[in-house]
Amino acid sequence: MDSSAGEHGMARSGLFLLLTGLMWRFGGACPESCTCTISRIVCIDSEPGIEDFPVLTLDDMENITEIHIANQNRLFDLSDSSLRHYINLRNLTVTRTRLTSISSDAFFNNTRLQYVNLRDNNLSTLSWRTFQNFNITFPLLLSGNPLDCVCENLWIKLKLQEEADSPDLTCTDDRGVTRDFATLTPPDCVVPTVEVTPKNVTEMEGGNVKAVCSASGSPAPVILWNLDMLSTHYEIDPSDTESILTLTGLSSDDNGRKIVCSVENMVGQSEATLELNILFPPAILQLLPPERNHHWCIPFTVTGNPKPELRWYHNNTTLEEQDFIRTIIHEYTENEDHGCLQLVNPTHIHNGKYRLVVKNEFGQDEKTVSAQFIDPPYFNTTEPEFGYSFSDPSLPPLDDSVAVSDPNLVYVVVGIAGVALTGCVLMVIILKYGRNSKFGIKGSSSVISNDDDSASPLHHVSNGNNTPSSSEMGPDAVIIGMTKIPVIENPQYFRNSGSMLKSDTFVKHIKRHNIVLKRELGEGAFGKVFLAECYNLVPHQEKIHVAVKTLKEASESGRADFYREAELLTNLQHEHIVTFYGVCVESDPLIMVFEYMKHGDLNKFLRSHGPDAVLMADGQHSILVELTQSQMLHIAQQIAAGMVYLASQHFVHRDLATRNCLVGENLLVKIGDFGMSRDVYSTDYYKVGGHTMLPIRWMPPESIMYRRFTTESDVWSLGVVLWEIFTYGKQPWYQLSNNEVIECITQGRVLQRPRTCPKEVYDLMLGCWQREPYMRLNIKEIYSMLQSLAKASPVYLDILG
Ligand SMILES: *[C@@H]1O[C@H](CO)[C@@H](O)[C@H](O)[C@H]1NC(C)=O
Ligand SMILES: *[C@@H]1O[C@H](CO)[C@@H](O)[C@H](O)[C@H]1NC(C)=O
Ligand SMILES: *[C@@H]1O[C@H](CO)[C@@H](O)[C@H](O)[C@H]1NC(C)=O
Ligand SMILES: *[C@@H]1O[C@H](CO)[C@@H](O)[C@H](O)[C@H]1NC(C)=O
Ligand SMILES: *[C@@H]1O[C@H](CO)[C@@H](O)[C@H](O)[C@H]1NC(C)=O
Ligand SMILES: *[C@@H]1O[C@H](CO)[C@@H](O)[C@H](O)[C@H]1NC(C)=O
Ligand SMILES: *[C@@H]1O[C@H](CO)[C@@H](O)[C@H](O)[C@H]1NC(C)=O
Ligand SMILES: *[C@@H]1O[C@H](CO)[C@@H](O)[C@H](O)[C@H]1NC(C)=O
Ligand SMILES: *[C@@H]1O[C@H](CO)[C@@H](O)[C@H](O)[C@H]1NC(C)=O
Repeated sequence: MDSSAGEHGMARSGLFLLLTGLMWRFGGACPESCTCTISRIVCIDSEPGIEDFPVLTLDDMENITEIHIANQNRLFDLSDSSLRHYINLRNLTVTRTRLTSISSDAFFNNTRLQYVNLRDNNLSTLSWRTFQNFNITFPLLLSGNPLDCVCENLWIKLKLQEEADSPDLTCTDDRGVTRDFATLTPPDCVVPTVEVTPKNVTEMEGGNVKAVCSASGSPAPVILWNLDMLSTHYEIDPSDTESILTLTGLSSDDNGRKIVCSVENMVGQSEATLELNILFPPAILQLLPPERNHHWCIPFTVTGNPKPELRWYHNNTTLEEQDFIRTIIHEYTENEDHGCLQLVNPTHIHNGKYRLVVKNEFGQDEKTVSAQFIDPPYFNTTEPEFGYSFSDPSLPPLDDSVAVSDPNLVYVVVGIAGVALTGCVLMVIILKYGRNSKFGIKGSSSVISNDDDSASPLHHVSNGNNTPSSSEMGPDAVIIGMTKIPVIENPQYFRNSGSMLKSDTFVKHIKRHNIVLKRELGEGAFGKVFLAECYNLVPHQEKIHVAVKTLKEASESGRADFYREAELLTNLQHEHIVTFYGVCVESDPLIMVFEYMKHGDLNKFLRSHGPDAVLMADGQHSILVELTQSQMLHIAQQIAAGMVYLASQHFVHRDLATRNCLVGENLLVKIGDFGMSRDVYSTDYYKVGGHTMLPIRWMPPESIMYRRFTTESDVWSLGVVLWEIFTYGKQPWYQLSNNEVIECITQGRVLQRPRTCPKEVYDLMLGCWQREPYMRLNIKEIYSMLQSLAKASPVYLDILG
């Protein structure tokens, strides 16, 4: 309440001031002989006339830009205070007055002057000091004054010489003779000059410096050192023509300082400088805990001459600077650099101790600060995280429409290539229905339901009940359907594979009666996978175990896919790619026959042979052996071999991960799966739009941001696969939600070195995770590096039988 009353009071007094101000302007404050407006004062009436400059209220004087005074018989001088408050004065005219002297500080506050007319007054001398505060680039009108031909006025001649069209200005010499100003040459009248030696010195902190300022000029100039603000102790030893400055015990505070020696006499002034370059060891004046501005910033202030080199350590390891973590200097001053270690969206990984070490040739300094950017995410192993993260709308440009249009393109290309085999009718069907049948995933309901361990589609089988014998296989008993091979599950999988389609591809056909289903291995959205026995498939063996994929519904377009996939698979034959034996299309349950890999998918295998194995153990696995490093290398090397082959076929995998590799006997590892990953390992995928599922944790930035999949992006994924192997099958970035992962990867973070991982292998991973695709290691290089690493530590396979 008090304050509002105060406000009312202020408002009222303000009104009062305004009214009185107006009254003054036309009454008391504005002299009778003058006219005052907001910006102008004009005093041209000689009666009653003025004796001094008008004084208005402070505010009013500040707004005056022009003063015009004329015809004043009682105005004799301009004192220090006459114009002090007219700080915005631009034009000044004082003419036809008795003005005889102008104080040398009269214009001290009038730095905006741009026009000075002093014609027709009684000035005999005028000092250069009157105008020293600002540059007189404007014309100075002095004619009509009885100027003396004396040294003090010599500066006027020098100034006039600078002006191209100088008016005829005259002076009167001591004999009363009027002379042209231009001919003025008073005796012993020379503008001073000055020199400081040395001009600059480089000295260690604590050292001493002696400098001489020598002047010439006439009359003998006054020599002045400007030593304001100087920290170093000094002594001055003056004499007539020079002044010796001695600095003892140089202070680093004075580094970069320019000490001015100025000399002046009545003719003019001049100055010279001594520059101090003081060498001293670096120091960290300040290192503060991180603060959040636009980005996170760990502020620091360092000093040192020469400028120190800065190096950061995080948790005692050297911090490699990059786009999102880098040192930024905001302000360079002579002595201190103020800056930040800038972190763009740091995560909990970046928490910890930050040590700054500064170093130059004279010494070093260091300081440490703790940083806690965000708390580590709460991690509950049993809780799938996609429920919340999939629904988060704040996503980078993961546009489903792109994903839908691309496979279409593939289908057209592939469809054309497939014409030779399947005919024109088929092509029409492909174009018509291809798009709809693209995705094998129908929804979360298709997750395997009968398995106690859902992560193991191939290894575990619940019981013997669903093991049909061949005799039981009537039309109803046989599960209808056809399979999509896993790779086709990825809609963009075969984009680069045009060259693979050989028109002479011969897909092997297997007779139905040769296949005996034994038991179900798993179920994906597409259909089911069985373990089966296949007769007469390979020479010298009556029957072998095979894995059989079936397709739930066999629409026309589904059949088209089936043939296309079979062709592609037939062309992909390599010792580290799961073997495709052929198809069975005799009757409606369309079937694909694959090699049976005893130990199931590699991810599950890794987990069950790691430190957490006990958690996974069930009755069937009483003996669990932890994988050795050399066995890990052996696994990695085989996958790399498969990838070398795929790359040679211009085949881009797009979903390389341990879950999509299979393990057979004797630690044989092959690339390939049965397309169930997206159902079984759904948390490994980021669901975009209705259908597309992206394995973002395995994807490089360009794939996440632009959906660009290349051999190089496969190399990135291979790096992640290495990481999976050396963590016994941990999910990459398991601590982070999908959105956090996207952020991390696009910002250039990479996975940390697993505890058990040798440096050489982690270097290899880092080589796969170069941000620029062309910077990444070549797949062949990776293979040969893994090969030589594996050679260095031979594998004893027997352990794992
Ligand atoms: C002076 O000028 C400023 C703006 O230039 C204005 O706000 C202020 O009111 C003026 N003062 C007077 C007393 O007119
Ligand atoms: C004018 O300059 C003097 C120093 O000579 C200073 O004290 C004063 O505040 C200045 N006046 C104004 C109005 O700025
Ligand atoms: C100030 O002087 C300049 C130079 O003569 C002139 O151009 C300008 O119009 C003058 N300003 C005022 C407000 O009189
Ligand atoms: C001009 O100033 C001189 C002193 O410098 C004085 O003697 C003389 O009377 C003044 N002239 C006029 C017209 O005021
Ligand atoms: C003063 O004059 C010099 C030379 O005429 C010019 O370079 C400088 O910019 C001027 N400074 C100011 C403050 O007007
Ligand atoms: C100071 O001296 C160094 C050589 O010692 C020279 O390179 C530098 O230009 C000098 N600086 C100035 C302002 O004269
Ligand atoms: C980092 O190193 C310093 C010594 O250089 C040691 O005192 C400190 O405990 C280390 N901190 C960590 C987290 O290793
Ligand atoms: C550094 O240490 C902090 C805690 O001391 C930890 O939270 C953080 O993850 C560590 N970061 C790295 C990269 O080691
Ligand atoms: C982890 O999540 C599961 C399922 O939400 C819950 O039952 C369990 O208590 C959680 N564990 C911990 C340690 O909070």
